[in-house]
Amino acid sequence: TYVVTENCIKCKFTDCVDVCPVDCFYEGPNFLVIHPDECIDCDACTPVCPAKAIYRDTDLPSDMKHFLELNEELSRLWPNITDSKEPLPDAAAWDGVQGKFSHLER
Ligand code: SF4
Ligand code: F3S
Repeated sequence: TYVVTENCIKCKFTDCVDVCPVDCFYEGPNFLVIHPDECIDCDACTPVCPAKAIYRDTDLPSDMKHFLELNEELSRLWPNITDSKEPLPDAAAWDGVQGKFSHLER
């Protein structure tokens, strides 16, 4: 499966949603996640994310491993998103900021 990681938080550009052939993105207030049972590992989403927040599970950086479980958990709680929308208002300013995990809203 592919996994959305920390740099999506407070950005939520949503370009990923438009290219996913199986619509397996789920939306929270300031973060998106991928449903691990629905993702078909097509790799369409990784190159289009402006925040470079999406990794294949086998390529996850060591400090992002906890996002695998988080995507699984939150994809069962949050609603499906199938169309892109405007990024969050301060997305450009938050892109690349370290330590955004504490800003995750559920
Ligand atoms: Fe969707 Fe493909 Fe990305 Fe999986 S790898 S989330 S199927 S676009
Ligand atoms: Fe997030 Fe990147 Fe998609 S910022 S919403 S994973 S395009």
